[in-house]
Amino acid sequence: MKHITCIEDLRLLHKRRVPKAFFDYADRGSYAEETLRANSEDLKKIKFRQRILVDVSKRDPSTTILGEPSSLPLILAPVGLLGMQHGDGEIHACRAAQAAGIPFTQSTMSICSIEDIAANVQKPFWFQLYVMKDRGFIKALIERAIAAKCSALVLTVDLQVIGQRHADIKNGMTVPPEWSLSKLIDFASKPAWVAGVLQGKRRTFGNIAGHVKNTEDLNRLSEWTASQFDTSLSWKDLDWIRNIWPGKLILKGILDVEDALEAAKVGAQAIVVSNHGGRQLDGAPSSIEVLPGIVDAVGSKMEIMFDGGIRSGQDVMRALALGAKSCMIGRAYAYGLGAGGQAGVEKAIDIIRKELLTTMGLCGVNTIDEIGKQVLAK
Ligand code: GLV
Repeated sequence: MKHITCIEDLRLLHKRRVPKAFFDYADRGSYAEETLRANSEDLKKIKFRQRILVDVSKRDPSTTILGEPSSLPLILAPVGLLGMQHGDGEIHACRAAQAAGIPFTQSTMSICSIEDIAANVQKPFWFQLYVMKDRGFIKALIERAIAAKCSALVLTVDLQVIGQRHADIKNGMTVPPEWSLSKLIDFASKPAWVAGVLQGKRRTFGNIAGHVKNTEDLNRLSEWTASQFDTSLSWKDLDWIRNIWPGKLILKGILDVEDALEAAKVGAQAIVVSNHGGRQLDGAPSSIEVLPGIVDAVGSKMEIMFDGGIRSGQDVMRALALGAKSCMIGRAYAYGLGAGGQAGVEKAIDIIRKELLTTMGLCGVNTIDEIGKQVLAK
């Protein structure tokens, strides 16, 4: 890991180490990937205001997230199938987050179950929920998250229908992997991945295996998701969820001011301004483009989290300058996981921490609270 100096290095290593179907699943977006690209391009357009001869010897990137101390304004986002990027990947990623002192969010579509992770980590983690048609099962899933002492529920609200990811279809993405000839050839060139995933205990969706039909024999992931996920979900269902989940609630996937205002009414403590990493509505604006308007409308009512294109500490600083309280990273740490398990995720977090500290120093700020529009060039 010595020669890894940026998230792109981890991405390239991930690409070399992990079968194409799983790398592409993490890396690519929906349709023409316009929104995926806009997320990064719009962030890069935001320029900093360099300040000199300010005492920046006491820089501190720590903050609070939903009232809890966090060593960075950073959260590991829910990412599906981490256990296919590295054996027991969710446990590795959660341990890395906890070692770094930041929150980890487990995806519903994880390979390790809630209970697997809880048994293998020291502290509570967050649980992300997709609402499926079988509400009895969803109620039981939320109750499992409560029993596992998950400390926040992240309800994803932008995936009632699934945006087509061409790469997943072309790659015949399945979980567990189908052993076609082309896949076998691909796997043969990735022995470290094969060994790691074979050592890992789980190879199917740990949270839903045995509860939802056909998870042992999954057909194409996108078709299966489309058949299970509840397209009828609406604001009315939030009360139902609120009655089962008494704890902190975060709505993830908000891009519109009116939706943000609605989220404030249903008693969410936070929202994540997100277009699902450019994996859903292609042609939607970048997350950073809509962030300031949403902060103006609801920033005083709820904590505003941000995701979409964060690949560096500079990007974190940009989102914070425009009013986000914290940022989620998805791909940035999934690359680390594919590149090197827990150590790779720790590396990803460390890269972002160092970049953020340097950027704070060069912009003349010492604390996260001080970061505002004044750090941006006019
Ligand atoms: C699931 O959330 C996905 O984006 O694949």
